[in-house]
Formats: sequence, structure tokens, C-alpha cells
Amino acid sequence: MQTGMQHAHVDSWWLLIVLFLITYFLLRAGVNKGAKILHMIVRLFYIVMIFSGIYLLFMWGFPLTHVLKGVLAIVLIYAMEMILVRTKKGTLGSKAPMYWGILVASLVIVLLLAFRILTF
Ligand code: HEM
Repeated sequence: MQTGMQHAHVDSWWLLIVLFLITYFLLRAGVNKGAKILHMIVRLFYIVMIFSGIYLLFMWGFPLTHVLKGVLAIVLIYAMEMILVRTKKGTLGSKAPMYWGILVASLVIVLLLAFRILTF
């Protein structure tokens, strides 16, 4: 049986990614008011993911793969936040490939670890 915290984590990770992308495209399109509200919701989701993730780590007794997954998830959140803030300020510029690279790489590894496709 799944606990509420497990649901919060497992059911909302994809929503965070979708909301992040919508916020990014709104910022690019200059729809600043809409983007501001969505960015706040995105930040709320960071907190939900981090808290529910830590809860799950306690539940599973801190398995190394998932501790690593948690650390990479923080890197992923950092990349998302930097992309949004720098897009808003217009300072993403030449740093764009680096931040998008970090985002894609960390997301792929987080998902491979989360779904236990990558195990060690
Ligand atoms: C944006 C950040 C994150 C994403 C995209 C993400 C994604 C996922 C996914 C897809 C799963 C597997 C869901 C399933 O089995 O259907 C999962 C499980 C898990 N996540 Fe995260 N996660 C994130 C952040 C975190 C953080 C910050 C931590 C820890 C501090 C964490 C710890 C865990 C743990 C322990 C599980 C295992 C749950 C289980 O096997 O039932 N996650 N996560």
C-alpha cells in the first residue's frame, strides 16, 4: 500500500517537469505575469519533492542508489531554477547549453535510478 507521501512523490515528479517547461516557454514568450505565478508553483513542487523524497529515504532505510538519486535530484532542481531565473533576467545566454546539459543528464540518471533500471 502506498502512503500519502509516496503518492505525493511518485505522482508529482512529472508534473514538476511539465510545469517547469510551461514556465520556461512563458518566460521566453514574455508572458511575465503568468510565468511568475507558475514559477511560484514550480518552487512549491521543489519543496514537495524534496520533503517527500527525504521521507521515502527514511522509509527505505537510505539505500545508496536512492541517496545518490536524491543528491542528483537536488542538482536537477538547481538547474531548473537557474534556467528559469536566468531566462527571466535575460542572462542565460552562453550558459544555456551548460544548464540544459546538467538538467537533461541529471534527469535521465535520476529516472534510471528511481525506476531501478540503473542498479549497483
Ligand atoms: C525533481 C526531483 C525528483 C524527481 C524528478 C524524482 C523522481 C522520482 C521517481 C520517478 C521515482 C520513482 C517513482 C515510481 O516508482 O513510480 C522516485 C522515487 C524515489 N525518490 Fe525521487 N525524485 C526527485 C527528488 C527526490 C529527492 C530530493 C529525494 C531524496 C532526498 C528522492 C528520493 C526518492 C526515493 C527514496 C524514492 C524511492 C521510492 C520508492 O521506491 O518507493 N527523490 N523519485
